[in-house]
Amino acid sequence: MKSTVANALAVLSTAAVVAVSACGTEREFAVIRRDAIARRQAAAARPTDVASEQQITDPAQECAIYNYPPVASLLAQKVFPPIWQIANLSTANSEAVSLFQSLNGSIPNIAPRGTPTGNFTGVNYNGVEDPDCWWTWKQCHTPKVAGIPPDIYNIPEPNTWGHNAFYDYLYQQKQKATLFYIGSNVMDWPLQAQRGISDGHEICAHTWSHHMTSLTNEQVFAELYYSKKAIKDVMGMTVQCWRPPYGDVDDRVRYIAQALGMRTIIWSDNTFDYQVSTLGAAAVEANYQTVINGGKNGTYNSNGTIVLTHELNNDTMSIMVQNYASIKAAFSHVAPIHVALNSTMPYVETGYTYPNFAQWTAGTTSISLASPTAASSDITLAIPLSSGASGSISASVAHSTAGSAQAAAASASETAKAHSGAGSNRLTEGPIGAVVAAVVGALGAGAMVVMA
Ligand SMILES: *[C@@H]1O[C@H](CO)[C@@H](O)[C@H](O)[C@H]1NC(C)=O
Ligand SMILES: *[C@@H]1O[C@H](CO)[C@@H](O)[C@H](O)[C@H]1NC(C)=O
Ligand SMILES: *[C@@H]1O[C@H](CO)[C@@H](O)[C@H](O)[C@H]1NC(C)=O
Ligand SMILES: *[C@@H]1O[C@H](CO)[C@@H](O)[C@H](O)[C@H]1NC(C)=O
Ligand SMILES: *[C@@H]1O[C@H](CO)[C@@H](O)[C@H](O)[C@H]1NC(C)=O
Ligand SMILES: *[C@@H]1O[C@H](CO)[C@@H](O)[C@H](O)[C@H]1NC(C)=O
Ligand SMILES: *[C@@H]1O[C@H](CO)[C@@H](O)[C@H](O)[C@H]1NC(C)=O
Repeated sequence: MKSTVANALAVLSTAAVVAVSACGTEREFAVIRRDAIARRQAAAARPTDVASEQQITDPAQECAIYNYPPVASLLAQKVFPPIWQIANLSTANSEAVSLFQSLNGSIPNIAPRGTPTGNFTGVNYNGVEDPDCWWTWKQCHTPKVAGIPPDIYNIPEPNTWGHNAFYDYLYQQKQKATLFYIGSNVMDWPLQAQRGISDGHEICAHTWSHHMTSLTNEQVFAELYYSKKAIKDVMGMTVQCWRPPYGDVDDRVRYIAQALGMRTIIWSDNTFDYQVSTLGAAAVEANYQTVINGGKNGTYNSNGTIVLTHELNNDTMSIMVQNYASIKAAFSHVAPIHVALNSTMPYVETGYTYPNFAQWTAGTTSISLASPTAASSDITLAIPLSSGASGSISASVAHSTAGSAQAAAASASETAKAHSGAGSNRLTEGPIGAVVAAVVGALGAGAMVVMA
């Protein structure tokens, strides 16, 4: 919305880059990366099941990363890049390398831009023509390169909203969300990641180490590949959607994502909650109120919205909780993104079926599994690791481009809307867009829910 865009630009022009960590402390993004290896080396063993992890309510304890033996083994074998380091193909399997090589010649010839930490100062770009459909510049959603589907950024269903959510709160509310997981955090908090699917949320990827258009083709590929692989190996599903960190995507990055079978999801409204420490809670609250007012006054009567919020710390979660009842009152329904798009099988694996929008509005909010291991209610499904072999983690994952056709088909019903907005030389989203979450106030989880 215009007001939030204006707000963002005002903030961006005055605020330093502030990184909000997953566990309530503010840190520079660089510090998070710098500490990642040491934190992993210091990791201790913890309970090895989702239920035990759910009992941990002390944020300090919960936020400590831990060694889950199957994940520790994958990391020791260097099946994955180092946590929170920009991913390269150096550790990739031959399947990934050959897939990248098959793409290498056809990737749109767009140079990497800016720095890995999102400093675009001095970047020259034809902002009038926006030749690369660079979202960061002016929120372009419709690729200029042929064959790439437009980004999903709103919902055809009217009066629909997307937001971030927290496991426990959503659990109590029986509310499902679309969660965007950073691969490095999936490895650091694998059992919290598993809870996301066992609670019945939709899962998408959010890169390996939270970078994008500054990276080389190989790094973009690896960032997406390893985030997808982390989710597959730890949680069992092959995701077909991702959200770019900061929304920083252009046609080169979209092309590589599509080749990996991943549809790009953006947002149409932003609460800027990740900047709460610099903006103040009142400003974030006002951004929520703008969207809630829009829900009441007919702004979303044609199309519902996807709203970006974060589950980073107590402030961002508290503001969401405080507004949840108002959101429910202002919008007709609240549903995950793929539910609102009638995309009932969002993963390559067909064992996970979500309700379509009509089923959702009729009251079915649970995920249906081909072989649920414990289905006492819609929020207590226990899903075995790797969608099959309980207790084991598959170290290999088939990354085919099969998802692309499905994504392209889904795109047929999507029409992108040109958002107007001034360009900025600064990325517009907090550095940890999505982190796996467990308990309110502790780990953060990036999520978007559609509220219709
Ligand atoms: C990835 O490649 C870049 C460029 O060669 C290098 O600077 C970086 O250290 C590599 N990262 C890892 C984790 O190997
Ligand atoms: C991709 O292509 C570039 C130039 O065309 C080449 O330098 C590079 O080695 C290729 N990368 C891989 C991993 O094959
Ligand atoms: C961004 O890059 C410019 C030019 O390289 C530099 O002068 C500036 O200090 C950088 N800003 C930050 C916040 O690092
Ligand atoms: C709203 O959704 C309809 C149905 O998908 C679509 O045709 C239309 O372009 C959308 N409008 C906007 C502004 O996104
Ligand atoms: C609806 O509310 C939004 C948000 O406060 C505002 O920007 C918009 O102008 C309002 N529209 C109407 C028709 O009142
Ligand atoms: C979290 O935020 C809420 C609402 O502002 C506040 O009441 C509560 O004391 C905070 N909790 C912690 C642990 O800071
Ligand atoms: C979802 O299906 C319903 C019918 O059940 C239809 O009215 C609606 O337009 C569909 N939405 C999309 C995005 O295809």
